[in-house]
Amino acid sequence: MNIDGKLAAQQLREQLAIEVKDLEAKANICPKLVVILVGDDPASQVYVKNKVKQTQEIGMVSNEIRLAEDTSQEVLLGHLYKLNEDTSVHGILVQLPLPKHIDESAIISAISPNKDVDGFHALNSGRLFNGEPGALVPCTPQGCVMLAKQHLGNDLSGMHAVVIGRSNIVGKPVAMLLLQENCTVTITHSRTKNLPEVCQQADILIAAVGIAEFVKAHWVKEGATVIDVGINRITTDDGKTKLVGDVDYNDVVDKCGAITPVPGGVGPMTIACLLKNTITAAKQSVS
Ligand code: GUN
Repeated sequence: MNIDGKLAAQQLREQLAIEVKDLEAKANICPKLVVILVGDDPASQVYVKNKVKQTQEIGMVSNEIRLAEDTSQEVLLGHLYKLNEDTSVHGILVQLPLPKHIDESAIISAISPNKDVDGFHALNSGRLFNGEPGALVPCTPQGCVMLAKQHLGNDLSGMHAVVIGRSNIVGKPVAMLLLQENCTVTITHSRTKNLPEVCQQADILIAAVGIAEFVKAHWVKEGATVIDVGINRITTDDGKTKLVGDVDYNDVVDKCGAITPVPGGVGPMTIACLLKNTITAAKQSVS
């Protein structure tokens, strides 16, 4: 069966819209998110447009700052310093990837950890690693755990979660979140030996490797919950393009207990969790 991320994201946004109203009524704060896009990568433009639109739809304020591809690192840092100081701004997101002449980690480090709604700043990853409260947690990993819980219930204790991929954006943080949920967690990657055999152990399989339709049915334990983080564009036999995940959906769907489709699974949850983080940042700015 499918785990419907589109529906779950819509339900989360409805809850968040109520929280935004509450925050305005009780603390006179309207959460504000600023999204910075450098260059004109078409996929990034679509992501940024959706982020801004959905922010506004739940009653929050959103600004988009568009900068040319040849913008210098210093100019981008200048924008961040200003936004860090601006008390009306609660969340700052710099859309990745950045042009090659800009050092991504220098930019991430320059965002105030209190406004780092992506949760990529070392202080937030450190808080997540230590299990400290108040961390802004990366959005896609939050979405993955919410969708797993939607199918399995809130108690994931003792389940074996296998994560394929070790990126700072998904693999590592989702492993930390699953550990907090008392799962037994295995992180795998391109050098893992006997990857299919390791994946066969998984009650929860998280695929975040960035290779189209990589995970096949014989990798999956009967009844496992499969969360597919991949978004890969492939060309089909008739020359058209389509989006597919890191899991070979048609191969796996009858073997697993539940799977997130691509599109319509993890993707919509990522933006909803970004809105959630912006509200958290706004609340923490007055607490
Ligand atoms: N590009 C692709 N995914 C993301 C994300 O989660 N955050 C940012 N800032 N850029 C991205």
